[in-house]
This record gives sequence, structure tokens and C-alpha cells, in this order.
Amino acid sequence: MKSLGIAGAAVAAALVASAVVAQTDPLAARKALMKQNDGGAKVVVAMMRGQAPFDAAKVDAAFSQWADTAQKLPGLFPPGSDKGDTRASPKIWQNKADFDAKATAFGKAVAENRDKAQQSVENLKTAVSVVGQACDNCHKDYRLSRR
Ligand code: HEC
Repeated sequence: MKSLGIAGAAVAAALVASAVVAQTDPLAARKALMKQNDGGAKVVVAMMRGQAPFDAAKVDAAFSQWADTAQKLPGLFPPGSDKGDTRASPKIWQNKADFDAKATAFGKAVAENRDKAQQSVENLKTAVSVVGQACDNCHKDYRLSRR
């Protein structure tokens, strides 16, 4: 958020509008989920770096959100949603089965590491590195670099 001049009310209105859009617009929905993915990642990374106290409930919340994303992702790339303000690679629609498999692999990494991640910072580090690889494994093939 660069323009700090925007009134709080306008920001709130924009957030409400984007939440409404997310229900009908797969492009907005998937970007919103990815932003939440990133939000969860930042929370756990801060714990891993000792910048925030270890909090198992917050770890679980991040994993819960990732599990939700993994489940929804395959449905959020319908044909035609390669147009517009998106970094989704056209390869998604050429290799949809592989893309879906990567979403499934991500979901599996999340499910398999969810309990472990809540046990200690050390376990959290191992768990998050596995999950992070699943994020990257999809992004390297299917997310275009920033324009
Ligand atoms: C199965 C594939 C896949 C997985 C797994 C995945 N992503 Fe993504 N991600 C994408 C695609 C495709 C885009 C581009 C979406 C678009 O712009 O329409 C994206 C976009 C993003 C963005 C940019 C969002 C924006 O507003 O432009 C962030 C941040 C992100 N992902 C974070 C993550 C994190 C963190 C994880 C793991 C916890 C993750 N992603 C897992 C495919 C994936």
C-alpha cells in the first residue's frame, strides 16, 4: 500500500468489494488465497527466525489455510481465466493434470507436516521447508515472473 493518503473507509470498502468479487471471479479468488498463503508463510517464518514467539495455534492456522488453498486451487483455473491481470502461466491450461497434481502434492505436504510443525521450532523449520518446496515446485513451472 503505497498511497497512505487513502481514507480508511475507502480501504474498507475496497476490501469488501474484493471479497464479493472473489466469490464470482476465479482470478481474484486465487490471488486472494495466494496472498493468504503468503501471510501464513510470513507468520511462521518470523517464528523460525526467532522474531516472534513460537505459537502452535498460529502454526496450525497457517497450515489450515494452506490445506484450504490446496483443495480449492484446481477449481480456480477454469478455461479462459488466463486473461487479465494474472501471473498464471498459459502452461497451466496445457498441462492441467500436472498442475492439479502439484496442487495435490502441496496439499499432501501440508497434511503430512501439520502436526509435526506444531511441536517445536525445530520441527516447524523442517515442516515449512517441505511445504515451501511444494509452493516453489508449482511456481517455477506455472507462475510467471512479475511484470
Ligand atoms: C499448484 C500450484 C501452486 C501452489 C502449490 C502454490 N501456488 Fe502460489 N501461485 C500459483 C499461481 C498459478 C499463481 C499466479 C496466480 C494468478 O496471478 O492468477 C500464484 C501466485 C502466488 C502469489 C502472488 C499473488 C498475487 O496477488 O499476485 C503468492 C504470494 C503466492 N502464490 C504464494 C504461495 C505460497 C506461499 C504457496 C505455498 C504455501 C503457494 N503460493 C503455493 C500457483 C501455486
